[in-house]
Amino acid sequence: MRIVVLVSGTGSNLQAVIDAVQAGELDVEIAAVGADREGTYGIERSDEAGLETFVVNFNSFETRAEWDAALTERVAEYAPDVVVSSGFMRIVSPDFIERFGGRYLNTHPALLPAFPGAHGVRDALAYGVKVTGCTVHWADAGVDTGPIIAQEAVAVESDDDEESLHERIKVVERRLLIDVLRQLSAGKLIAPSSANGVQSSAS
Ligand code: GRF
Repeated sequence: MRIVVLVSGTGSNLQAVIDAVQAGELDVEIAAVGADREGTYGIERSDEAGLETFVVNFNSFETRAEWDAALTERVAEYAPDVVVSSGFMRIVSPDFIERFGGRYLNTHPALLPAFPGAHGVRDALAYGVKVTGCTVHWADAGVDTGPIIAQEAVAVESDDDEESLHERIKVVERRLLIDVLRQLSAGKLIAPSSANGVQSSAS
């Protein structure tokens, strides 16, 4: 199973995927890692791992549509079976999702549909929930929407701040992401034929 991973930041979840592949614990080929801006640690990590990398810089395009079309073409060059948004902080178009057959996986540091958006951890803390968590889902063109594949709860501690809570969530998020990729590559999870649905044969 060939994957392209998209990142915007530090790429620690991506690193966990790279480590799992290198350790022989995850049977996927990381065809390339792409970013929406220059200078991300995620791309640096990928270069260090000897992976193919690319940047389609959001700020180099006049319109979102032009950026989206360029990203779509760049990702398509690698003919991925699945595209993974791993801390990729941009919404992509329905055309992007369609081009990859709806096989666009996203991870989110909250229990969707609660607390979507760029500040899922901060928003959960501000609301005062006692339990939050993370979600792996097939992404559609909305903000953290689309069919949910896996979720796991993480308790909020009384002395948590955004950073400490996010770090504990990310430990779980990495495990879930790798597990979902493993199930996909083993054919235990069937990717959606469109962005609207997912069938699972996993128990
Ligand atoms: C993850 O929690 C992801 O769900 C969120 O941003 C974080 C990315 O962290 N959107 P990293 O770049 O993998 O370290």
